[in-house]
Amino acid sequence: MRVIIKDNYEEISKSAAELVKNRILNKSNLILGLATGSSPLGLYKELVKICENKEITFKKIRTFNLDEYYGLSPDHLQSYRYFMNVNLFNHIDIDKKNTYVPDGLAKDIDKFCNDYEKKIKNTGGIDLQVIGIGGDGHIGFNEPGTSLASRTHLVILDEQTIGDNARFFNSVDEVPKAAITMGVGTVLETKEIILLANGIKKAKIIAQTLEGPVTSMITASSIQLHPKVTVFLDKEAASELKRISYYNFVEKQLAKMAISL
Ligand code: F6R
Repeated sequence: MRVIIKDNYEEISKSAAELVKNRILNKSNLILGLATGSSPLGLYKELVKICENKEITFKKIRTFNLDEYYGLSPDHLQSYRYFMNVNLFNHIDIDKKNTYVPDGLAKDIDKFCNDYEKKIKNTGGIDLQVIGIGGDGHIGFNEPGTSLASRTHLVILDEQTIGDNARFFNSVDEVPKAAITMGVGTVLETKEIILLANGIKKAKIIAQTLEGPVTSMITASSIQLHPKVTVFLDKEAASELKRISYYNFVEKQLAKMAISL
């Protein structure tokens, strides 16, 4: 696992965008896993810029989002489909038909979830998955206690998550109480993961995730079992890590060896 610590959010967004750009330059039909929330917003802004500058194209890219609120239609202002359109898809040269977000209105939930898994498999699997981390250590919407082998499923959200996400709604009562999410097992099966976190609010959970034991009580800690992970943190989110000087030393040595992202 590489842990890259930068001074601020802008720098982690730029650095993560550099990695995504390099993967797309290596594979023009990359299968990209995406997240919503505030953490990847800067990354998406950078990708829009890079695409506008014609450094990369998304014409052959297919994307799968981690999750969607259950009960929200794609045109609901707080749906994750809407978020993705407004913050990324509307501004890049991607064919929206190649962008998949779980269906928040799926009637046969089990069938939908199985089909989502099959769709991912049929592409050959996700090459690069972008994730954020919730205050309770969730990835996707895999709340504490979710099986580390879980696949795409319906989840009832934790009260902490509902509270955290209330900032996007008029009131906490409006926050959906359920979501469809890729499972932890689905995320672990991707070929590469990048995790983005910023701000002091994430410091404790980041330390537990990266340097604590692997546990289903912090589903993000499962990324310790993944062979190819890069974590992008600002100084605040990194502030409770014990091995900061080692992570910084690694980056210095890699830079000297001209090993880039
Ligand atoms: C969003 C998602 C969530 C968020 C997490 C952090 O698609 O899967 O796990 O990544 O809740 O959210 P922010 O980035 O808003 O702190």
